[in-house]
Amino acid sequence: MKKVLLAALLLCGVYSAQAIKIIHGPYLQAVTDTEATIMWVTDVDALSWVEVAPEDGKHFYYRERARFYHTVMGRRAIGTIHQVRVTGLEPGKKYRYAIASREVLSQKGKIHYGSVVSTNVYRKGPQIIPTLNPKKESIEFVVMNDVHAKNEKMEAYLTHCFKKGETDFVVFNGDMVSSIPSAEILYKGFLDTAVKHFASDVPFYYVRGNHETRGLYAVEYLKHFPTTTGKPYYTFTHGNTFFIMLDGGEDKPDSSLEYYETAAYDGYRKEVAEWLKKVVESEECKQAKHRIVCLHMPPVEGHKMWHGTRQIQEMYLPLLNKANISVMLCGHVHKYSYHTDQAAFPIVVNSFEDALKVKIDSNGIKVDVVDMMGAVKHTHSFR
Ligand SMILES: [Fe+2]
Repeated sequence: MKKVLLAALLLCGVYSAQAIKIIHGPYLQAVTDTEATIMWVTDVDALSWVEVAPEDGKHFYYRERARFYHTVMGRRAIGTIHQVRVTGLEPGKKYRYAIASREVLSQKGKIHYGSVVSTNVYRKGPQIIPTLNPKKESIEFVVMNDVHAKNEKMEAYLTHCFKKGETDFVVFNGDMVSSIPSAEILYKGFLDTAVKHFASDVPFYYVRGNHETRGLYAVEYLKHFPTTTGKPYYTFTHGNTFFIMLDGGEDKPDSSLEYYETAAYDGYRKEVAEWLKKVVESEECKQAKHRIVCLHMPPVEGHKMWHGTRQIQEMYLPLLNKANISVMLCGHVHKYSYHTDQAAFPIVVNSFEDALKVKIDSNGIKVDVVDMMGAVKHTHSFR
């Protein structure tokens, strides 16, 4: 009973008006039908956990809730970027969660702890993890790309395309920022806006664009955007659709002076192609009714067919052409185009001033290209 009371006091903020602060998040990552990762950032080192409760009509404080910690190789991690994997969930359910971080004052010999900060379950209510559901009959998602840290674009897309309670997830299809010199650009560039609108309760799935490969902090990408594969390329299933989230690396040859000798994407694309070969042969891919590929750089002939895109065309397309792909969604060139003659499946290239609103139900896949005023400029349907 005492423990429950203490947890309640901590989570409602009674003991949390101290120096430690949650400065970014929480946001959902790598959500599957049975697991999810909760991400957030504190201003000082802390040991962190998530408390999870089912949506069963009982108050969050009805009983002591299951706790999940940020662990690394069995040890509870201390740091400022918190990454907690919640497991053992059921498909197609909603779970309430609250986050908490206990400040670490000193780690010399003994560890000395300070105060706890948490999300305010008592006043604001808990956040929600909605697990994916392969049996869901109708799904909706929004795709945006080439935002290049222009938060006002995101705001416009979300205003017109995102419907709370209806939109299942958002896809960031690359180039959300122009480079990653520090973590700060990720938060200021789009993450804080995503959290403000949806990302604490609705997942986003990130496809790395060529610009996310640039900048000194780019190597820390997975620290902020963990995936189920531990790589920037991964898959998931929602409803009757299997999603392949691909990574094409950089656009120019690795020797380009722009990369200051840091680029090694020829080898990387080989690694991705090896993985893709297994993916398209998997039962999960074959059994789905639809297969959608999200890839930043479109393998489409034209003036943007540079080295990286050409390698995608040579290495990924032969595998995808045999996989009965329903549609590929791309960005990168900042201009809308639609292609039925570049691959064995259609390719929608979204511009840098529109979003895609996608609905999949018994009628098939419907892709609306929506501008920043909410007008539908193009519609494509696939079965
Ligand atoms: Fe790009």
